[in-house]
Amino acid sequence: MKDKLLKMLSEAEGYVSGQRLCEELNVSRTAVWKNINRLKEEGYVIEAVPNKGYCLKERPDVINVPEIKSGLQTRSWGQETMFFEEVDSTNNVAKKMAEEGAPHGRLVIAENQNAGKGRRGRTWSSPEGTGIWMTFILRPQIHPQAASMLTLVAAMAVRKAVYTETGLETVIKWPNDIVAGGRKICGILTEMSAELEWINYVVVGVGINANIWKFPDEISDKATSLFLETGRTVDRSRMVSAYGNAFEEYYNRFVETGSLALLKEEYNSYLANFHNQVKILDAGGDFVGISKGINDAGELVVTDAEGTERIVRSGEVSVRGIYGYV
Ligand code: BTN
Repeated sequence: MKDKLLKMLSEAEGYVSGQRLCEELNVSRTAVWKNINRLKEEGYVIEAVPNKGYCLKERPDVINVPEIKSGLQTRSWGQETMFFEEVDSTNNVAKKMAEEGAPHGRLVIAENQNAGKGRRGRTWSSPEGTGIWMTFILRPQIHPQAASMLTLVAAMAVRKAVYTETGLETVIKWPNDIVAGGRKICGILTEMSAELEWINYVVVGVGINANIWKFPDEISDKATSLFLETGRTVDRSRMVSAYGNAFEEYYNRFVETGSLALLKEEYNSYLANFHNQVKILDAGGDFVGISKGINDAGELVVTDAEGTERIVRSGEVSVRGIYGYV
């Protein structure tokens, strides 16, 4: 009842009369009033005006599953969302659930990760209550070799969600970092369980620095947050829904071809250093060239100093702009 009430207040533009709430929820005025008070205790600011009704003015900055669901316009993604106060890593929890048969599209989300994982075995700083730490469980019917492209698809979805919810323009640092003001705002870690020819499951974990206002010294020159870039606190539940909506849509276009053929033009339009000089840090030898954007397989095409097109694959190399991290 409380969740339905919150959904009605969230969806309303302005006030909802007490009578309408009673009728649609099929409860008494006292029940509505009691549940309004419960919401207030949870930190919602709800204004009650005689002859007008109730209006939701502010939400607490907590991740709230009913709110996430009320913002989802997906067919299935996120309709099963599992929230935890604390986990080691949402990717680990998602992998365990996937092993136990969790369906495609389930979302795992946590307020706090005590062992958040980054790419290449790094740790991921996941301060409590200010970030968005979440993982989708997917069961794509594509070749295992194509799975790494899901990271690029997720990056497009994060960029879109950030823009929709905050108006902030970000770029994608190939393959999958989302960058604002030259600093990283989001990282993505994709893990997979597969046989030679088919995928059992993929988990796509996303860490968005949402309302973090200070980073540890060792990463403060490379990391930023939505709060630091916009000066406003973002509604994390709405950000999660916006991400789910965008990810499902981009994913459907991706699986149509099993490649990025239908997405690469849009991806490249947000790519940092597109048509500019980049430095490729490769164990086999570094080189400098001009970034030509991604191809259908999500690889970065770079023209080197001799004019030869070289294909750069993710996982093997790091890309730098000429002047530092981006
Ligand atoms: C990177 O190194 O850029 C990837 C960081 C990925 C962090 C996210 S937070 C949610 C999910 N759970 C994890 O342990 N890692 C990913």
